[in-house]
Amino acid sequence: LIVILDLGSTNNTVIARKIRELGVYSEIHPHDITAEELKAFKNVKGIILNGGENRIVDGQAVEVREELYEMEIPMISIDYPQSKCARQLSGLPGQDVLKKFIFEDCGAEANWNMKNFIEDQIELIRQQVGDRKVLLALSGGVDSSVVAAMLIKAIGQQLVCVHVNHGLMRKNESESVVKVFRDELHANLIYVDACDRFLSKLENVADPEQKRKIIGGEFIRVFEEEARKLKGIDFLGQGTIYPDIIESGTKTAKMVKSHHNVGGLPEDLKFALVEPLKQLFKDEVRACGVELGLPHDMVYRQPFPGPGLGVRCLGAITRDRLEAVRESDAILREEFAKAGLDKKVWQYFTVVPDFKSVGMKNNARVFEYMVIIRAINTIDAMTASIEKVDWDILEKITERILAEVENVNRVCYDMSPKPPATIEFE
Ligand code: XMP
Repeated sequence: LIVILDLGSTNNTVIARKIRELGVYSEIHPHDITAEELKAFKNVKGIILNGGENRIVDGQAVEVREELYEMEIPMISIDYPQSKCARQLSGLPGQDVLKKFIFEDCGAEANWNMKNFIEDQIELIRQQVGDRKVLLALSGGVDSSVVAAMLIKAIGQQLVCVHVNHGLMRKNESESVVKVFRDELHANLIYVDACDRFLSKLENVADPEQKRKIIGGEFIRVFEEEARKLKGIDFLGQGTIYPDIIESGTKTAKMVKSHHNVGGLPEDLKFALVEPLKQLFKDEVRACGVELGLPHDMVYRQPFPGPGLGVRCLGAITRDRLEAVRESDAILREEFAKAGLDKKVWQYFTVVPDFKSVGMKNNARVFEYMVIIRAINTIDAMTASIEKVDWDILEKITERILAEVENVNRVCYDMSPKPPATIEFE
């Protein structure tokens, strides 16, 4: 283990990723970690101090504890010339400094890879769970799918997956979850069709935040009902990943997010957590999914918000517009895949606003909805630029949407970057 101490640099995760790519496991920890805490990890081979330009966090200068310099662990400062470290960033290019430090100074071995990781985690899961049962909310998203695949491998039928179809999934998405997990991986899967229940709760609700609240709250209630029907469950599986941990775990993290879909269960339904991906970055989660044999499409799918198509059927959700979103989204994804854009564009989807415009169909005046296409690229979803989609591809998609999607007579392309627009419309 190589420990990176977070002194406010913005590229700690980049360094951690680079070290892992060299086959050595690396974690980021707060700058004020104690020598005792570090010793408790047992296998710390080296410490990297990285504070970026000035080691200042929220206006305060930060330093590591003096006692760390007295430990017998090789330490390097890669940011700061005045550091007390024996070794500091020399003239070598970044990657070379790291390699020399990790392999020569620390004597670390390159044995961190996905195969070993999975073997280790399976062993740990078996130790933790024994012959008891684990419950998992399986949305079909990357993280929950990979956790499910890992748990199936580790404990088979002791895992109970619950898939809630809230009616806001993309076309054939719930079907594919059932196909992959029940038919192919033989998971113990409970499929809950809650479409009508969600849509009736959402009736006439136009405010986006209210919609999100209802969808999130209802999800917890449906999941809770299923959990109560089951007997003898002791654990809850969760797709927590490393960015979730460091965002809330290091002292300098600017943002604390709650990522857990089922974090709102009532007190009497609190389970011990099984979180086998909590050490992995997103791309490592995907690599883990591939290694576990999940389909490429499931592992490399674009981000899809928890409230699903609910925030793309703008304003108060109606069934006709929801279907227009679902069908146009399916066409967009199909055509993007044909053109190879699914591997290039970060996120792409359609939205349907809650107003109509005038048009002509079969020589008669129609008053129908419009579909807006959005395709963006980003690194961290904080800012985004639009994909300049080829005109011919857009024309083809437009033709298909106008011919195949009911109640639609107009297609637009959203040209707005983020900011000032956001990626989603609501
Ligand atoms: P915005 O619209 O804020 O989106 O620019 C940034 C990224 O976050 C996703 N997003 C959500 N994800 N629940 C989620 O799980 C949500 O309520 C939600 N809202 C937006 C969005 O798809 C984009 O990738």
